[in-house]
Amino acid sequence: MKYLILDGCPRKGNTWKVTEAAIEQIKEQYPDSEFEELNIYDQDLPFCTGCSNCFRIGHEKCPHYGIIGNIIEKMERADGVIVCSTTYNWRETSVLKNLFDHFCFMLHRPHLFRGKALVITTTGGTGAGKSAKSIASTLLGIGLNRCYRLSIAAISWNAYVPGARELRKISKKTSRFAKDVRSRKLHAPSLLSLIPYNIMRGMGQNYAPGSEYPTADGVFWTDAARKGYAYFPEVRLSLVKRAFGQMFYTIGKTLGGQKSLLVTYKK
Ligand SMILES: Cc1cc2nc3c(=O)[nH]c(=O)nc-3n(C[C@H](O)[C@H](O)[C@H](O)COP(=O)(O)O)c2cc1C
Repeated sequence: MKYLILDGCPRKGNTWKVTEAAIEQIKEQYPDSEFEELNIYDQDLPFCTGCSNCFRIGHEKCPHYGIIGNIIEKMERADGVIVCSTTYNWRETSVLKNLFDHFCFMLHRPHLFRGKALVITTTGGTGAGKSAKSIASTLLGIGLNRCYRLSIAAISWNAYVPGARELRKISKKTSRFAKDVRSRKLHAPSLLSLIPYNIMRGMGQNYAPGSEYPTADGVFWTDAARKGYAYFPEVRLSLVKRAFGQMFYTIGKTLGGQKSLLVTYKK
């Protein structure tokens, strides 16, 4: 299995120690695992300029596509993605947030449905759970199939040494993640994940080519390959979940089609 590590930390400190322990666990469990690390700081990714090209005319038109396109391609190729971040002000680092700002078009057009993620965060005392939750919500929103969260209170600025209890926690969570990656199983989404997916699918119908404000979202959602499905067609859904998704599709399509709610742009 191929693992991509997206390191959102500015230095190899406490968070990296936990990440290394997680990598060791996976190597021990599955020696044929391959790892590639991408340090987000080193990418020199400029801030998102808010041009909205990605939403309107396609993410290939992002002024920073050279960097973003490369990261997304690596995520597409990976079986498992490990995202690590220290906690600043109870959230992920700004560099990771900046990357996620560039990923926002995938909240509109999710596609990374085969991927599974392990989110690793550390904090001095409090907030690691909040930063992990924030990262996980983006990863699930852009389509990833499952997201495991590992949060550690290091109680140290720069000299963290995981104790026996924490090593057990790291090993248990990482092992579940690696086993799931290995299984290649595509889990059914939660009801909560079906809401944004289907609202977007519904709204997208109002932005098809030939409409007043055509967008890349409109092209994506009116494509026959996904228009009629309450979730990625490759992922099996129960009848109840299909009906649930369909309800939010109808809400998105109807409300999104109201003149007052139509998202405009300068032509
Ligand atoms: C700018 C900054 C902000 C921080 N914010 C928090 C915080 O909100 N809550 C907290 O408990 N610790 C906070 N810390 C402590 C770090 O989260 C903690 O030491 C972390 O383990 C450092 O990870 P690293 O060694 O990988 O950089 C902060 C540290 C820095 C430098």
